[in-house]
Amino acid sequence: MPRIDPRDLTLEQKASLLSGRDFWTTEPLDEAGVPSLVLTDGPHGIRRQPGDADHLGINESLPATCFPPAVAVGSSWDADVAARVGAAVGREARAFGVSVVLGPGVNIKRSPLCGRNFEYYSEDPLISGILGAAHVRAVQAEGPGASVKHFAANNQETERMRISADVDERTLREIYLPAFERVVTEAAPATVMCSYNSVNGVPAAEHRWLLTDLLRAEWGFGGAVVSDWGAVADRVASLAAGLDLEMPGTGGAGDRAIVAAVRDGDLDEAAVDEAVRRVLALADRAVTATGDVDLHGHHALARTLAADCAVLLKNDGPVLPFASSVRRIAVIGESATSPRYQGGGSSHVHAARVDTALKAMQDLADARGQTVAHARGVGSGGREEAVRVAADADIAIVFAASEPETEGIDRETLELPADQVELIRAVAATALRTVVVLSNGGVVSLEGWHDGVDAILEGWLLGQAGGSAIADLLFGVANPSGRLAETIPLRLQDNPSHLNFPGEQGHVRYGEGVMVGYRYYETVDVPVRYPFGHGLSYTSFQTRDLAVTRTGDDTATVSLTVTNIGERVGKHVIQVYVATDAGPVRRPARELRAFSKVALEPGESRRVELELDRRAFAYYDIELGRWTVAAGEYTVQIGENAARTITEQTITLPGDTVATVLSLDSTVDEWFSHSAVGPALLELLSAGMTEEQAGASEENADQLRMIASMPMRRFLSFTGFAIDDDRLAELIELSRTV
Ligand code: BGC
Repeated sequence: MPRIDPRDLTLEQKASLLSGRDFWTTEPLDEAGVPSLVLTDGPHGIRRQPGDADHLGINESLPATCFPPAVAVGSSWDADVAARVGAAVGREARAFGVSVVLGPGVNIKRSPLCGRNFEYYSEDPLISGILGAAHVRAVQAEGPGASVKHFAANNQETERMRISADVDERTLREIYLPAFERVVTEAAPATVMCSYNSVNGVPAAEHRWLLTDLLRAEWGFGGAVVSDWGAVADRVASLAAGLDLEMPGTGGAGDRAIVAAVRDGDLDEAAVDEAVRRVLALADRAVTATGDVDLHGHHALARTLAADCAVLLKNDGPVLPFASSVRRIAVIGESATSPRYQGGGSSHVHAARVDTALKAMQDLADARGQTVAHARGVGSGGREEAVRVAADADIAIVFAASEPETEGIDRETLELPADQVELIRAVAATALRTVVVLSNGGVVSLEGWHDGVDAILEGWLLGQAGGSAIADLLFGVANPSGRLAETIPLRLQDNPSHLNFPGEQGHVRYGEGVMVGYRYYETVDVPVRYPFGHGLSYTSFQTRDLAVTRTGDDTATVSLTVTNIGERVGKHVIQVYVATDAGPVRRPARELRAFSKVALEPGESRRVELELDRRAFAYYDIELGRWTVAAGEYTVQIGENAARTITEQTITLPGDTVATVLSLDSTVDEWFSHSAVGPALLELLSAGMTEEQAGASEENADQLRMIASMPMRRFLSFTGFAIDDDRLAELIELSRTV
């Protein structure tokens, strides 16, 4: 499309471009050749509604492929899985004429109760950012734009449209913003979607610091900011803050408010022009529906990818994969025939086709001469039937599912429905061997039945081909390689957000600060059922020859050799954590700073190299207002998971040279420890002391410690040391120059 200069348009024309025409499309400007664009959900499949529109997943949409939702993709720890989902979603978007796919969601799983955790990747910002960026790049390489969401601090559904997330800046910078930052700086999404909630009292839709100072000035975002659906309360304030496109349309109300504000002198027309320029640039993403979509090929892809996402939590025996001696398999539970494979709300996809685990298992069993018997395990007599079927089998597989999760509502408990727990326990008490396959969008508690079963396969929500993927994993056609991207706690109340979730009286205080998920559990040493990063395989891997080499003052390279020492091809996730207590702020016990997934044949070894950039060592210093690397020791740990380190190596970094400018409010200790001022001050003071005074102060160490924390101003007035003002000013000046 030829570039249109906003100054050639009337104010009314410009305003019309800044809000939707209807629910899913933007306003065209036929006279200027500007097309109307379709924006729609996303992110794990296309929800294209030809008829009545809604953003709650109520009305029908066209059949499309439902890929594994983010909860599953997060557990793949594999940017390639995220990218392959993104590329296929991008192709389907093109086929349906969708120009912008809403997603991915890179919000952090602050609490396991967040009802939308199934749409988010992880409790860790590195995983969320790397997978989110891979998804966006892949969608956009196919033509359509992506919309990374929900910016920012949208970590719960309770009161999501009006709660204020009260988060300190270090926590925002280190935990809640880095995934957005990475997606924006590395993948240049066409749009960023602001969230409904307020951040520190200001609605995200009107948050100038977020939408302009940070997003554009600091991160260099060049795309358009779009509102979450209906998030705009004050169109003029939101435009002034940097929100370009209001969705959905409001029947012209927003446009009229913009025009009136410009005419009244309350809004600078230049801000309107800027927003128009960004919305017009979106038209480059205009696609014409081709209708050409390979639903068959995408289904097969969805099956392969889903198998990379499931996490094998436990495998005593090992009972999985099924040994050839297993002849009779009992399949129990409703979700074996009515799978839970996605959550509810705006991301709900009308799946083109849905595989059931039962059918897929029957196919694989037939080919191997095994038999499969099924019992639903519900309704009157259901449990007895299940126990009977289990008693007759060599192994029983219980399919259990959480209560359905949906956008708009947080969960109240981590417990599985009581009847499912009873079913698991009854089967486990009877069967020779019991395997539990879980379907859930948020973490569920394994307590009360974990120890009674032999194996647990955490299937999350695996998309439309999840049933087949589970069968592939159980029979060993595929080897599990997922790792937990979120901790499974022993108790809900162990979660660090517990006392501050979901908030009260309009505010949710992020009181745990940066200690989110495993950062907290590891720092405070709270036992968990399964730590972040945990996941088993049917083969084993050995890690050796770790070498951590500094490549600069604040960067390093990590290399190590990984060998598949088992008998099956498999994928291993290398997890690199950094542990330090350097600097003036409380650091988590360890933080994930790099990861990589490698596929290895039996017996194969590979030397793998990972980069640790400056951020891997930095914390956000609120006094300096920037990322800072403190001088000190940093232990690079290769983790089997966040709780178990396989091997480690410590390096020393010189840290940033930070000029400490002294003032009379700086402490005595800060004055004396200053590299240039300290010696000068000491000389000055000792020159004025009698020998007796000098001896006494050396003896009295306790007093010295007390004095150390005193602001210099107080110290001078309490002790009566006379340093003349000019000399003090000289010393302060000296601190500025070093
Ligand atoms: C959700 C967004 C979604 C939008 C459009 C909103 O309710 O929060 O994630 O993209 O609706 O369906």
